[in-house]
Amino acid sequence: MDWRHRPRCDRTSAWAELQRHAARFAPGHGQDESAPRFDLRAAFASDPGRAARLSFEAAGVFVDASKSLVDDATSDALLALARDCGLQAWRDAFLSGEPVNTTEGRAAKHWLLRAPAGASADPDAAEVHATLDAMLAYAEQVRADASITDVVHLGIGGSDLGPRMACVALQAFAPPRLRMHFVSNVDGHALDAVLRDLPVHNTLFIVASKSFGTAETMANARSALDWYAARGGNDVARQFVGLTTNIAAARALGITRTFGFRDWVGGRFSLWSAIGLPVAMAAGADAFRALLAGAHAMDGHFAQAPLQNNLPVRLALLDIWYRNFLGCASRSIAPYHAGLQHLPAWLQQLEMESNGKRVDMHGEPVAYDTAPVIWGAPGTDGQHAFFQMLRQGTDLIPVEFIAVREAAHDLPGHHAQLLANGLAQARAMLEGQGGSDAHRAMPPGRPSLFVLLDALTPQALGALLALYEHRTACCGALWGINSFDQFGVEQGKVIAQDIAQRLASGDTGGVDASTAQRIARLRG
Ligand code: F6P
Repeated sequence: MDWRHRPRCDRTSAWAELQRHAARFAPGHGQDESAPRFDLRAAFASDPGRAARLSFEAAGVFVDASKSLVDDATSDALLALARDCGLQAWRDAFLSGEPVNTTEGRAAKHWLLRAPAGASADPDAAEVHATLDAMLAYAEQVRADASITDVVHLGIGGSDLGPRMACVALQAFAPPRLRMHFVSNVDGHALDAVLRDLPVHNTLFIVASKSFGTAETMANARSALDWYAARGGNDVARQFVGLTTNIAAARALGITRTFGFRDWVGGRFSLWSAIGLPVAMAAGADAFRALLAGAHAMDGHFAQAPLQNNLPVRLALLDIWYRNFLGCASRSIAPYHAGLQHLPAWLQQLEMESNGKRVDMHGEPVAYDTAPVIWGAPGTDGQHAFFQMLRQGTDLIPVEFIAVREAAHDLPGHHAQLLANGLAQARAMLEGQGGSDAHRAMPPGRPSLFVLLDALTPQALGALLALYEHRTACCGALWGINSFDQFGVEQGKVIAQDIAQRLASGDTGGVDASTAQRIARLRG
């Protein structure tokens, strides 16, 4: 099947079958309310093999999907949907460098960034490895340089969320000497709070921007350069580094040390490129290579495993099931490990920027929902904040429990208690609570997923993130949308420039009355 002309999901027979099938899980208007309903507790009671059959493992990531609202017929129909939609043809095209980013006419080859040297015949492979070697050598040089005590990373969106998340996740590998700071927002409070206590001659600034044109990052970079010069800094070549596809723009700003990457690396998929430099500085070159190796192992699984055992594919199908057939508008991410505290934010951009689309790749409006809202917070904090809604609220919200078997600390008792909480919440959601008191009763059969890593190593983190990337892209491919563009964020940027001028001049001509009022108020 040609990946460009695959049947659209809602025009397949599997889609119609899933619609009929969904009535047993969430009966809609006009459907037979008396038909037997799927009961998750009963599914476990009647089927001792359920947990094992709905568990998957790939590249060191274990996923137990048995607490999902699916039965065997659901799984079969979802796999039929994947086949009807030509998912395999799309996957093969994506992984062979076809221009799957159709609106921008380019490939999405972030997987190439993690292929070991010599493993890929792709024409860009040699350049990828030359940049990687240079960037890792530089990271090691900085780690060995006692005169550098602080690293400030300036970037936003994909040029911030991945490195920020991975630096925290791999903190156990970071030398205590190097303090890492991340500033993304144009809000001067954020940059000011970081700059205030920095030793000017011992600080390294990384300006990370694929385009080197993003207003927030450019404003922060200029302010950092001004701050540096005002305090007697006179070695921009040594203390500023640019990570970008637009080397000329970095040079125009006076930043001559740069590490590049190609435009086929989407911002939200760029952790593996030069954008990962702070991770290599914090955790070391070996750890960064291990991160890539973990992701590459997941790439291999994704490329080769048959659809029914393919972890990214199975999870994407589950996402489609919840979103399009059971009406779930959101999914909650609950990492039970402090190191993964920024994972929900990274995932938010990954899934919502990739799949928050309303037309298919041919420009036709879709007749079904696409990306759900992705949100979450580390357990057990979430338990004391929003789990009430998950347990007794009116929305059906699948929860993703992400746990790590081994702790990286030796405080007695904490890790067992943490893991017990994660298991307990999932079990409570399954069991619900009966009784005659309506206020205390909780519906049973609320779904969750359990994702487990043995330890939060660079390798395991790489595999986990690649799993999410491929799962997201598979959802997009099943919906027939382009997961690799983000035109929805462009208009706001243009209007922001116009408003900035109006805030300076007070001119409100031609703007709506509400915006005019706000401009007047803000000008005081
Ligand atoms: O928020 C929109 C966006 O274009 C993201 O896709 C991207 O990750 C971010 O801005 C930053 O872009 P750049 O790396 O070019 O500064």
